[in-house]
Amino acid sequence: MEIRLQKLLANAGVASRRKAEELIVAGRVTVNGVVAELGGKAGPGDALAVDGQPVAVDEPQKIYIMLHKPEGVVTTVTDPFNRTTVMDCVSEIEERLFPVGRLDYDTSGLLLLTNDGDWTNSLTHPRHEVRKTYIAVVKGVPTADELRTFRQGLEIEGRRTSRCEVEILPPKHDKPFGKQATGPTAKLRIIIKEGRNRQVRKMCEAIGHPVISLKRVAIGGLRLDNLPRGKWRHLTIQEVKLCLAKS
Ligand code: URA
Repeated sequence: MEIRLQKLLANAGVASRRKAEELIVAGRVTVNGVVAELGGKAGPGDALAVDGQPVAVDEPQKIYIMLHKPEGVVTTVTDPFNRTTVMDCVSEIEERLFPVGRLDYDTSGLLLLTNDGDWTNSLTHPRHEVRKTYIAVVKGVPTADELRTFRQGLEIEGRRTSRCEVEILPPKHDKPFGKQATGPTAKLRIIIKEGRNRQVRKMCEAIGHPVISLKRVAIGGLRLDNLPRGKWRHLTIQEVKLCLAKS
């Protein structure tokens, strides 16, 4: 059976479907030695390659991992500046994985890694509206009006953010994470369904309360809980589905 090239590349763990489409458009994918086009298909017996490197057309075993990403780690597969990447955090895994979406260099928390392109697509495509929960420590204490503005949507780089959830958490004597601040601060629980670049930081900035530290604690119904910083674990089948759950 012939399958679309971007799906084959995602199944083979080369890249997410969207990134695979970019590779095809860039002319880096060949089928039987001929440069492929978007919309092209291949099947068993075809020689599929990216940048001349053969790609196995058979389905690999699917792997799903949760990582507690520390601050100071980049969410890329390789880094031109030789910084620690999230792949270094899961170096024991031999299969080729890629991160599902990204967390900023200075954001910590729940990051998923997989070789399942379809699952990645379901989690990252805006149409699926997967809820991402963050705990942000911000400068100052937002007023009720500022929180209302935050919830209703803000203009960021010419585009309005979707409605979201935000609440101030009561102060707790738990261990702080990330940088420490001088002066008053507030701890916010923020739930957004989008994934724009540095979105939470930009939203907090827009209401006049810049982020001091940021941690993602849940994706869909899947929670980071007490997985230690820098550690990873495999997800159970139930958890793989839980990420896509609506609450
Ligand atoms: N929003 C941000 O600002 N940073 C992240 O890392 C994730 C969401």
